[in-house]
Amino acid sequence: MAGDSEPGFSAIARDHAMYPRHLGPPQSWGGRARITGPCGDTMEFWITVEDGCVKRVWFTTDGCGSSLACGSMATTLCRGRQVGEAKEIAPADILRALGGIPAESEHCALLAAGTLRAACENAGAATE
Ligand code: FES
Repeated sequence: MAGDSEPGFSAIARDHAMYPRHLGPPQSWGGRARITGPCGDTMEFWITVEDGCVKRVWFTTDGCGSSLACGSMATTLCRGRQVGEAKEIAPADILRALGGIPAESEHCALLAAGTLRAACENAGAATE
């Protein structure tokens, strides 16, 4: 992330890109997924589930500032939600919460939402 003057980033998105929340990996988890997007970047999510809700969540990515911002916001949005709700977090939800990232990077939200959904499904499979 180049810094404060990065064009196209809202103040919220810039903050999440520079100081990503809930960076993994954790030592233990209940669900995990790792997906490489068409851009070649990889994102990984881990969650723990308690009483059907996402109790804890972590992520990593080897991608750009936008992917850091999207992964970080996805972790923030899903904490405490029912797993079924967390699975439904859409790229548009992430982008709306971030308040703006460069248009050419909006696909990063797709990778974040897809990886989070897969981690939720993996946790469900582990508990069924
Ligand atoms: Fe690869 Fe955004 S550029 S995830």
